[in-house]
This record gives sequence, structure tokens and C-alpha cells, in this order.
Amino acid sequence: MPLPPYRIKVVEPIAFLSAEERAAALGAAGYNPFNLRADQITVDLLSDSGTGATSAAQEGAAAVGDESYAGARSWFRFLDEVAALTGYPHVLPVHQGRAGERILFGTLLRPGQICVSNTHFDTTHANVELSGAEARDLPCAEAADLDSREPFKGNIDVAALAALLAGPDGERVGLVLMTITNNGLGAQPVSMANLRAVRALCREHGVPFFLDAARFAENAWLVREREPGYAGRTPREIAREAFDLADGCVISLKKDGLASIGGCIGLRDDDLHARCEANLIATEGFSTYGGLAGHDLERLAVGVREVVDPAYLGARAAATANLARMITDAGVEIVQPAGIHALYLNAGRLLPHLSAAEFPGHSLGCQLYLDGGIRCAELGSLYLGTMDEQHRLVTPAPFELVRLAIPRRVYTQEHFEYVAETLAAIAKDPERITGYRIVSTPPILRHFKVRLAPLP
Ligand code: F0G
Repeated sequence: MPLPPYRIKVVEPIAFLSAEERAAALGAAGYNPFNLRADQITVDLLSDSGTGATSAAQEGAAAVGDESYAGARSWFRFLDEVAALTGYPHVLPVHQGRAGERILFGTLLRPGQICVSNTHFDTTHANVELSGAEARDLPCAEAADLDSREPFKGNIDVAALAALLAGPDGERVGLVLMTITNNGLGAQPVSMANLRAVRALCREHGVPFFLDAARFAENAWLVREREPGYAGRTPREIAREAFDLADGCVISLKKDGLASIGGCIGLRDDDLHARCEANLIATEGFSTYGGLAGHDLERLAVGVREVVDPAYLGARAAATANLARMITDAGVEIVQPAGIHALYLNAGRLLPHLSAAEFPGHSLGCQLYLDGGIRCAELGSLYLGTMDEQHRLVTPAPFELVRLAIPRRVYTQEHFEYVAETLAAIAKDPERITGYRIVSTPPILRHFKVRLAPLP
């Protein structure tokens, strides 16, 4: 296995609660892991967002962060790095990805328009719809087969996009947004061929083409590994080629920015930039800090350079692939092939005795916490299903999945072995796991604040 190109210098303790303490903690959290305290968790795989470890170089840079209100030195460091990486002439800083989404969609989309994506991430979907537009997903057909090992199951369905643009709704398409990698669909990458096809269609129909590039480096790594013609290219060159194809991007830099907070919008169009900038200043902060501190901008300027290091990406991809192997050897199936930032467990198949209305993905996630103090997120009917007024499931999600997100540079091989062992024990006797019912739910983005109770 490729060695990670770093050693550990600063550590923090993790919690080891007893089984009784975990059961009490989960009950008090309304059986929703989002409501747990982080110090009740042993291995936290809830998100890879803002959860990575920073480097000594990042902390050194942060120490000299310039906190001037306008025109800070740290801003120019950040701008130079992001502009060099992406090639976009305009860069606007934001405090995280969804702030960039809100500003971009609020400026670019009009009510009644359609934003088309390979798959919108949940906050992205919400921000499109809050702008009055419709978020429509057109994932490629291969994505529907969780077991197939097609290399680019994150792609958009190009034929469906072409048909939409040429059809009666074509005039309403205000934006095509490609999520790289496709976090909503198994962390699967998008090929450069797919991005080129999208660009050609967008050009033909005069529709803006943007990237949601939260995991731009990880997508580039998977292109290098899987797409013919890219083996000899650096991840940085491949990422740049992707940015070159698009008219702009939104990036949550909490992922491949290797920092705990931050994001940006990249743009080519002068007029769109001016309008987004006005919105940014009114709602996030002046255009040379956008809601970020100077020390954040410094960490990000170093992070976007560190993240494209082939040694780092190779070791991270190998660690995830190794965890995938351990989990499948233990008898738990995952969405294939393994991506980099997360693994998606097929809970529907592991717990066939639970119906979708009993939320098998949620049950498996809760069991991982009860048995091992491991926190993760359900991506099944609790997250995507539609409910009636009494919180009963009306339309289930297509799959009952659980996401194990892997924070960057945080956990060691031993932690991953522990996760695999905990899953192996569950897989030996899955029938002891019971389902859940919803007790109360918020109006949108249900999974964050829903409260549940175990079924008898
Ligand atoms: N786009 C994608 C593809 C994402 O995965 C996320 C966040 C966002 C946009 C929003 O960025 O959190 O900085 O506002 N994903 C996190 C996750 C939360 O756990 O997958 P943000």
C-alpha cells in the first residue's frame, strides 16, 4: 500500500463510551446521529467536510494571516493560488460551499428555470429551489446498478441532457451544474469525456456550464487512474482541464481545500462577477474575505496546493480502497467501485427483513454507533423518501444506503480495521437489528433535524 506522505504531529483524544452510555446518548439524540455530541463518538465518519487535519505548513501560514478588512495579504495569497489552479479570471471567497451556491443561483437563475445536474448535493438542491428554479438530476444509466464496476458512474446522461435541451423545456434550462465527484451517487467520478460532451451541448444551446468542484482533486485522481489517456498527467493538470471546460465553478473548500472552513466561486463572465460580488458584499463580507478570516485564507492557499500532490491522493485512494476490501470481505456490500471520500454501504441488501418504511439505512447507521461508537449518515428513504402528514413513507428512495465519509489525514489503518470489525460483527447477525419510525421532522432538509424512535 502507498504510504501517506506525512507523519502525525498534533493529535486529539477520542471518546470510548460504554455500550450503555452510547445507548443513552443515542436515545437522547432522538436516534439521529446529527444530534450526538462529538465527544460521544469514537470514529466519526459523518462527513469529510471541514473534518480534515491541517499540515504544519498550513498552520505556519495561518500564524502570519493578515486580518485587514480589505485587501489583506492573505487574500492575495488565496487568490493567486485559486486563480492559478482554476484559471478563472474572477474568484470570490465565501465561508463555505452553500454560500457560494446561494449567491450564484440567486444571481444567475430566475424563477421557473431548470438547473440540470448529474446529481445535486442536498444543500445545492435546496439552494436551487430557494432561488425559485427547479433542480433536475439526470444521472447516467450505469449509476442505477450499484454493483457494476463501470469506471465513471458519476457521469450525467448525455443523451437525456441533449433531449432536454432540444425539447419543449429546453428554453427553461438556466444552468448545467456537474458535481465532481458525484457525492449524491456513491462518490463516483465524472470522466473528462463526459465533461467535454456537456460543454459542447451547453455551447450549442447557449446555457452556462458550471462545476460543483468540492472534490476536484479526487475526481482528477480517479480520471488519472481510470480514463484512457490520462495516466501520465498530474492531478493538477487534469483538474485544470476540467475547470477549463466550464464557465465557472462553486467549490466547497472544506473538502479538497484541506481546511475546516472556506469556499469560493470562480467566474469568467465580467457582468455575472459584478452582480455576484454585490450580493457577496451584502451577505457574506467584502470581496477580499467573503466571511473568512485571514488565517483561513492562508490555510486554504496552502491546502489547494497540497491536495493535488499525487503521493497524498494515491495514499488516500488506497486507504479507502483497502477499507472497501475489508468491508466487502466481511460480507457487507458497498456501491462499486469504491470512490475516495466515502464508501456507501448497501443497507437494503444487508437488512432485507426491514422494509423501506422501517429505514434500514438508518438502522444500520444507528447500530454502528450502538456497537462501536461509529457515526455515519443515512442516504436512503429517510433522506430521500417522500412522507405523508403523519411522517409515514409514501415513496421510498431507490436505494437504502449508509455513507461512511472519510476525513482527510485523520484516521489510521487501525481505525479503519476497527470500523470493518464492527461491521463484520453486525453482518454475522443482521436480523437482530430493528427498524425506526419518525417522531418529528422539520419542513426541509429532513435528515439533519428529524427525531426517531426504534420499533419494537
Ligand atoms: N457540493 C457538494 C458536492 C458537497 O458535498 C457539499 C457538502 C456542498 C456542495 C456544500 O458545501 O458544506 O461547504 O456548504 N457536503 C458535505 C458532505 C456537507 O458531508 O458531503 P458546504
